[in-house]
Amino acid sequence: MTVSEVQERNPLAGGPGGVVGAELTDYTMLVAEPASLVIFGITGDLSRKKLIPAIYDLAHSGQLPPDFDLVGFARNITDVKARLCESVREHARTPFDPAVWDQLAERIHLVQGSFDDTVAFARLSARLAELDVRRGKPGNYVFYLSVPPSSFATVCDQLAITGLNRNAHGWRRVVVEKPFGHDLTSSQALGVALERVFPPSSIYRIDHYLGKETVQNILALRFANGMFEPLWNNRHIDHVQITMAESVGVPGRAGYYDGVGAARDVIQNHLLQLLALIAMEEPVAFDADSIAAEKIKVLSATELLGPLAETSARGQYGAGVENGVPVTGLADEAGFPADSATETFAAMTVGVATRRWAGVPFFIRTGKRLTRRTTEIAVTFTPPAHGATAARGAAVSNVLVFRVQPDDGIELHIGAKRPGGGMHIQPVSLGMDFRSVFDPAPEAYERLICDVLRGDATLFPRREEVEWSWRVIDPLLEHWAGCDRPDNYPSGTSGPESAERILSRTGRAWRQL
Ligand code: BG6
Repeated sequence: MTVSEVQERNPLAGGPGGVVGAELTDYTMLVAEPASLVIFGITGDLSRKKLIPAIYDLAHSGQLPPDFDLVGFARNITDVKARLCESVREHARTPFDPAVWDQLAERIHLVQGSFDDTVAFARLSARLAELDVRRGKPGNYVFYLSVPPSSFATVCDQLAITGLNRNAHGWRRVVVEKPFGHDLTSSQALGVALERVFPPSSIYRIDHYLGKETVQNILALRFANGMFEPLWNNRHIDHVQITMAESVGVPGRAGYYDGVGAARDVIQNHLLQLLALIAMEEPVAFDADSIAAEKIKVLSATELLGPLAETSARGQYGAGVENGVPVTGLADEAGFPADSATETFAAMTVGVATRRWAGVPFFIRTGKRLTRRTTEIAVTFTPPAHGATAARGAAVSNVLVFRVQPDDGIELHIGAKRPGGGMHIQPVSLGMDFRSVFDPAPEAYERLICDVLRGDATLFPRREEVEWSWRVIDPLLEHWAGCDRPDNYPSGTSGPESAERILSRTGRAWRQL
């Protein structure tokens, strides 16, 4: 179906949107066809805070497919539409427009049932078939599993029993949310359970960091410009720091977070994906297969650098402040056992065993209840070793910083001469703020849902990527399992002392939060 055919059939559909400049992806191949999106767990937190607001935003900007229907599957469907409307008002990026909401609400259908109820799945199947007939659409379904991983296999099995996973006419896609297991073995088992029911090409694993514009910009900056690649190697780069700091804690999230911890929650997925984008070779094309191939090569060459007792650290927040307000420590939060050994801070050192990266440490850290919220990747270049500035100790380590959030942009730290007599070098920074150059970017979930509907898997990690990432962190998780409790750090600080030592022992320092 062409873009104009799509627009003709649906006033909510605007096609792929105008793009100025050279386009690296052939969007004409990827127009969203008429489809139904089924959300399992439509009453859950993720759906309320992210999915439904993102779908509303897509409706607002005319990017939903023609003849779109949203089917919510949940145990309790009382007042669901009113609750979804509230969540749109509260969390959508674009302003609330009653006309857009009413149009969307008309397309929302609800099926009541639990995940192990075969009869309810038969009702779901009948409802989808009825919508296909009513709108004359071919039976293209996305199944969004916004459910705990323990329910993945149950839902998939039910889809198989009702035959909803098989496509006689249209296509079938399934979307799963992390955590993809809690270690390599469980992740492999999950992969097997999913692939028993859906072919790998129909499985979309969400890592919402890949939906962030600034993250996608890493590839643009590296490969659409000539000046970075010649320097992008161990001859010119001293080290890389990847930081994801959050000021908030995890109150109310004990059910998910306790026993999971910071390394599994965000390093295994978001932060190793950032590393893959920073370290990968240029893909032969900007398509899903080519990008995945390069990321897999990097992740399979990534390994922890030891000794782990010195190159890694973990911590748990204690009482302190969050944005100026006094808060208790994790052990006193509802749902967490007083002796919880769950880490809310994790730091580690990894290397990438390739010719390009041998000898360059990648320092990764993340934490909750830190000084402030910031996610960034800082690439530190080796200072000049010779010459007059080096001899006088005035040479500068240039740092290229990708600011992922909250002030998304790019900055380059260089040394410049201070005005006046003599040659005094002062660090200065060149910067670019995305917001001052581009229109506001869509939320990650808008982009990712849109891509699933279009069948573009570029921003979704493959099973191999997920498994290689577990191979990277599993030895550290095992090491920690045999250690004492995580170190305590007060809420509102930059993390435990032990994290500082990871860099200071190498003569370096973390960038200040
Ligand atoms: C999620 C983690 O994947 O990412 C959360 O489970 C974390 O613990 C969140 O807070 C952070 O996302 P963002 O987009 O706010 O950086």
